[in-house]
Amino acid sequence: MAAKGLGILGSGRGSNCRAILERIRAGDLCAEARVVVSDVVDAGILEIAREFGVSQVYLPPGNFRTRLSTESELALVRILRDSAVELVVLAGFMRVLKRPALEAFPHRILNIHPSLLPRFPGLEAWKQALVAGETVTGCTVHYVDAGVDRGEIIAQREVPILPQDTPESLHERIQIAERQLYPAVIAELCD
Ligand code: GAR
Repeated sequence: MAAKGLGILGSGRGSNCRAILERIRAGDLCAEARVVVSDVVDAGILEIAREFGVSQVYLPPGNFRTRLSTESELALVRILRDSAVELVVLAGFMRVLKRPALEAFPHRILNIHPSLLPRFPGLEAWKQALVAGETVTGCTVHYVDAGVDRGEIIAQREVPILPQDTPESLHERIQIAERQLYPAVIAELCD
């Protein structure tokens, strides 16, 4: 079976990216990471790409805070196409993708979000769940559409909220679940 070409996008430390690259290296995820792209010049995710020998690109995002400029998004599409990317994996990419990327990769962009969507889209979803007094939260893998943390849900994993949880301890446990769920979902889609 031919390995699927992945393009991984992230803005942060890249623990989900590391989990995916480790599963590929272990041979139980039939995919090849073709490029890692970040809108943050010193993001940990770029360092992880270097460590795994995956080509990595810093993409200057332009002047907006929550999305890429049109030029930047067109550049992103070019990078992904030139790298023969078939599936785009958002791993902590903190900008909303718009038409250029959505039209170039229809139904081929995945995201992971730290809540049980549609509950708590947006920033710091684990804090939102704590403040709301929930007893269970979790993480969601979904296809990306033009909304924020919206789009067809593919899989979810529940994480209990413990009485002594702080935002940090809860986020850490959600991330442990993310690092199991995301590579497993990608493996299934690649099959
Ligand atoms: C993850 O918890 C991911 O769910 C979240 O960013 C974190 C990235 O961590 N994404 C979102 O909130 C998207 N709305 P990582 O850089 O260690 O993978």
